[in-house]
Amino acid sequence: MQEFLWGAATSSHQIDGHNENSDWWQWEAAGNVEGGVRSGAATDHWKRFKSDLRLAADLGLTTYRFSIEWARLEPEEGRWNESAFEWYSEMIAECENLGLLPMATLHHFTSPQWFAAQGGFTSPQASEKFARYATQVAQRLGSRIPIWCTFNEPMVLVFGTYIARIMPPAIFAPKLVGAACNGILKSHVLAYDILHSSKLAPREGRWKDRPLEVGIAHNIVDFRADRRWHPMENLLVYVFRKFFNRSWLDAVTGKKQRFAVPFLVPRSRPVSEALGRRTVDYIGANYYTKGYVQWRPKSAGEGTSKDMPIGVSFARRRETASDLGWAIHPEGLARTLHFVARYQLPIYVTENGIADAKDVLRPEYLVSHLREIARAIKKGIDVRGYYHWSLLDNFEWIKGFWPRFGLYQVDYETFERRATRSALLYKKLIEAHRATPENPSRSPDSRYLGGHGL
Ligand code: BGC
Repeated sequence: MQEFLWGAATSSHQIDGHNENSDWWQWEAAGNVEGGVRSGAATDHWKRFKSDLRLAADLGLTTYRFSIEWARLEPEEGRWNESAFEWYSEMIAECENLGLLPMATLHHFTSPQWFAAQGGFTSPQASEKFARYATQVAQRLGSRIPIWCTFNEPMVLVFGTYIARIMPPAIFAPKLVGAACNGILKSHVLAYDILHSSKLAPREGRWKDRPLEVGIAHNIVDFRADRRWHPMENLLVYVFRKFFNRSWLDAVTGKKQRFAVPFLVPRSRPVSEALGRRTVDYIGANYYTKGYVQWRPKSAGEGTSKDMPIGVSFARRRETASDLGWAIHPEGLARTLHFVARYQLPIYVTENGIADAKDVLRPEYLVSHLREIARAIKKGIDVRGYYHWSLLDNFEWIKGFWPRFGLYQVDYETFERRATRSALLYKKLIEAHRATPENPSRSPDSRYLGGHGL
């Protein structure tokens, strides 16, 4: 039996700093982030990765999810940056030294500028270019990586880019959604096959005998109607669940591709390479909160579209919510796990966390979500790991630096890291899950999730 993996997640652009050849860097420079903020040096992780990984290991983590930055490895089309490859080799070696099983994401929202200029994933050549990048990574960094995530939140990427306008190039263009989804899906399928190719050098290192797993990290929101009696809102919930929560999981498990929404997103020709076959070995679920779907929202809130009479709010007025206004809703994780379990594949919770600068809500958030995982496992759902978002405070995309998701706080002037109470709690919880005859896999278990000074 494999051990349950206890982890934390990050992404390159959000922590490394100076990701100068990425589309986000350019977009930030044009003043698109709140307050004109730019990612700049971010958390300076590029220079501090050794001590950051040590902080991860200090918590007793057994795994670490990070992303590999395409814009760094291929800053200009066809030119490969040797020193960036070396940095990644060193980083992966360091994970191994510290007993942190690496889960590597190939694409976490950012693309090289040259790729974005060609239309990003809507370009007919996108998958070929992504496959070339995936091949380089697989050949040069792959032998020591046992778990891969090809894409982080493909639906958030497409939705954020062409509908919600919170990611570059931020245009309202529902007609491009189909092409972008298809471009990503085809890129994913090619990367899946490349990573599984028998032509690659043999696996090596500490985890060489562990079966290779390739999947995606998929964002799932527990949608409901803002007004339960409202027919239009109920219809929209149906659409959101199908389009946002389900379509990608159907697509990567070989089912019918439904990247379409009546009257908004036109149907596109399916990607034949993905039909009738499974192209993931596990499903990664990124779960944060619920979403109240609103038709003609009264106030222009966080999730209100500028282009359509539709809004999603992430909490009601009186609900306890994060600094970003997202309700704390662990039952939604339970529902998510039951939903994902229908696909009959192993599950990793690849992200779960809260923006909470004072770290007052995070301890309970952490425990209550782990408790739902414990319950799900008890009911027979195959959850194999948990990655808290995030190891460190980081650059929270269009919001800039103020939302603080870190188990470790970052002082952005001195770059000092400071453990939160939640980090120490997480450490205790991991310790409490020592292997025992009753729980040899160390999976979350309600018996060890009480007390702890909460
Ligand atoms: C993304 C992260 C992001 C987090 C919090 C996830 O959707 O993968 O990059 O920081 O949510 O918003």
